Amino acid sequence: MPDVLPRSEGLLRRYAAYLPLTSATPSLSLGEGGTPLVRSRRLVEQVGCAELYFKLEGCNPTGSFKDRGMVVAVAKAVEDGARAVLCASTGNTSASAAAYAAACGLQSYVLVPRGKIAQGKMAQALAYGARILAIDGNFDVALRFARALEDTRGIALVNSVNPHRIEGQKTAAFEIIEDLGDAPDLLCIPVGNAGNITAYWRGFREWRDAGRAARAPRMMGFQAAGASPIVQDRPFEDPQTIASAIRIGNPASWKGATSARDESGGAIEAVTDDEIMEAYRLLAREEGVFGEPASAASLAGALKLGREGRMPRDAVVVCVITGNGLKDPDTALTIEGDMHDVPAEFEAISRALGASR
Ligand code: F0G
Repeated sequence: MPDVLPRSEGLLRRYAAYLPLTSATPSLSLGEGGTPLVRSRRLVEQVGCAELYFKLEGCNPTGSFKDRGMVVAVAKAVEDGARAVLCASTGNTSASAAAYAAACGLQSYVLVPRGKIAQGKMAQALAYGARILAIDGNFDVALRFARALEDTRGIALVNSVNPHRIEGQKTAAFEIIEDLGDAPDLLCIPVGNAGNITAYWRGFREWRDAGRAARAPRMMGFQAAGASPIVQDRPFEDPQTIASAIRIGNPASWKGATSARDESGGAIEAVTDDEIMEAYRLLAREEGVFGEPASAASLAGALKLGREGRMPRDAVVVCVITGNGLKDPDTALTIEGDMHDVPAEFEAISRALGASR
C-alpha cells in the first residue's frame, strides 16, 4: 500500500501514488487539499443521524473544491506543452483555472453565462488575469463551445470532461477516510455538472479496493429542483436556481453520477431553492460555517432525509460544503439580518446593544 505524505504537502506530492503523474509532470501547488472535516455540534440533532460532518472545501486556495482537480489538470497541461487553458464555468472552475494558469505563466480563457456568475468568482477571474468571455447563454451552451474549441493547438480544456480533473478531485474522499478512519455511511453532495460526485465515488471505491477503507458510502447527490435533469431523467433547456453554481441543465458527467448512485445504493434527489436557502442560513447561524448557496444543497438534502424519516439514526454522514460563502456576497446580503443605523454616540450604541449596566 503506497504511503501518503503529510497534509502540508500539496496534493500532487501527497497523493502521487494515486494520481496520473509522470517524471515530466511539473510540481505545482497553491496549498490545495487538506481541508477541515468539521463535526456538527447542533444541526446533527435536526438531521437525526449519529454523527454529522462538514467537509470544508471552501478552505481551498481559491475557495472551492475545484482546486483539487485544477492542480492536476494544469500541471498536465504544462507537461503537454499547452500555452493556455480554457473552460466554461458557472464561476468556481474559472476562478481556479485562472489561478493555476497564472501560477504557471499560462493564459486562461473562460466562457461564462453573462450576468449569472456570483460577484466574488468574477472578481477572482479578473484578478488572476483571465480573459473572460461572457456569453448570452447558460453554462450548458458555454460548455458546448468550450468543447468545440478543445482541439485548438496549444489550448488545454480544463472542464471536468478532462479526466485529470476527476483524478484530482477524488482526493477529497481519501481525506475523509483518513479523518474518520473509514468511509462514512452517507455522503451528501451538491450535483451540477456531476464531476464531483463522480470523483468522490472513484476515490471511495479506490481506497476501499486498496484496503484503506472497509466500506464505501451511499452517495446522496442533490440537485436544485429547477435544475434537476438527473432526478427527472431529462435535460433542462432553461435551468433556474438561486444556487448559480449548479444552474446546469445537461451535466457532462451524467453517466458518472448515475453510476455512483447505483453502484453505491445511493440516490440523486432534488431540493427546492427555499430548502437550499434555509440550509444556507442554518449552516452559518447554527454551525458557524459559511458556504455558498450551491454548497448548502448537501445540507438541505440531509435535512430533508431527516424530516422525511429516511435518515438512519446510527448513520455517520458527511456533507460536502463545496465553496466559500464569500464567493456570493449578493445572496448573503438578501437574507434577513440584524442591521441598524445608529448615531455615533455612546448612549445610542449602548441602547442598541440592549445592554443594561
Ligand atoms: N458546488 C459548487 C460551489 C460548484 O461551483 C459546483 C460546480 C458544484 C457544487 C457542482 O459540482 O459540477 O462537479 O457537479 N461548479 C462548476 C463551475 C460547474 O463551473 O464552477 P459538479
